[in-house]
Amino acid sequence: MSTPLESSCKSTDSNPSNPKEHVCNDWSETMKEGIDKDVIESVYTEWATKSNGSYDEKMAPYFYTGSYYVAKAVNDNRSDKNIRILDIACGTGFVGQHLNHFGFSNVDGMDASSGMLEKAKAKHVYKNYFLSAIGPPNPPTEIPDHKYDVITICGGLGPGHIPCEAVDEMIRIVKPGGLIINITRASILERYSEYKNKWEPYIAKKEEEQKWREVCRTIFKNYCFGKDGIMYIHEVL
Ligand SMILES: C[S@@+](CC[C@H](N)C(=O)[O-])C[C@H]1O[C@@H](n2cnc3c(N)ncnc32)[C@H](O)[C@@H]1O
Repeated sequence: MSTPLESSCKSTDSNPSNPKEHVCNDWSETMKEGIDKDVIESVYTEWATKSNGSYDEKMAPYFYTGSYYVAKAVNDNRSDKNIRILDIACGTGFVGQHLNHFGFSNVDGMDASSGMLEKAKAKHVYKNYFLSAIGPPNPPTEIPDHKYDVITICGGLGPGHIPCEAVDEMIRIVKPGGLIINITRASILERYSEYKNKWEPYIAKKEEEQKWREVCRTIFKNYCFGKDGIMYIHEVL
């Protein structure tokens, strides 16, 4: 008999197929090596508010499954629907929508892009909204220690996106015993200098320091436009 955590580690089933490469143009705008953090904010805001080919249109669930799998992992591992969840890099609110469908309503959203956050607000899937970029060079957030039961991150890693060091801030604001669930396109960790040979050592170091423990990591087929994703679940100690 597997525990809920173990069973979510094995949930590698995936429905989408037939990715359409032509929808990736805006995506590649956000994935340029060396891109400045301020540019990231404005590129996403522009993408969110485009009248034709907006983020929500192009990143439809058929092409981008990560938000569903993150919410499912929360549901697989936590039965109390009142837990406090922070969705970091919440974008236009895909993860929040799925969490709401699973019955979780005590969810806050944080994003660096005002345009993305405005779209999320219109969906009413989060309780509180934080316009904030987590991680250095920004100072720590004003969120109190140990406020959340679970943090979710879906698609938050990339050049100019969430840096490795933001893990420290996430650990600070999650309760001991709480979870940090992070899904990303797997190739990002190898392709970009911010993560290559840094991400894995960084998260392992946090384990050595007994800040968190890795519960599982799972490869997802067809996470986004046919590319594999990797989901990490860590328990804060
Ligand atoms: C690919 S989108 C993912 C959005 C959403 N989670 C989803 O699955 O659709 C990446 C998001 O990360 C946000 N972002 C980038 N760096 C960030 C940071 N340091 N802190 C918070 N949000 C960040 C961007 O503004 C953008 O909305």
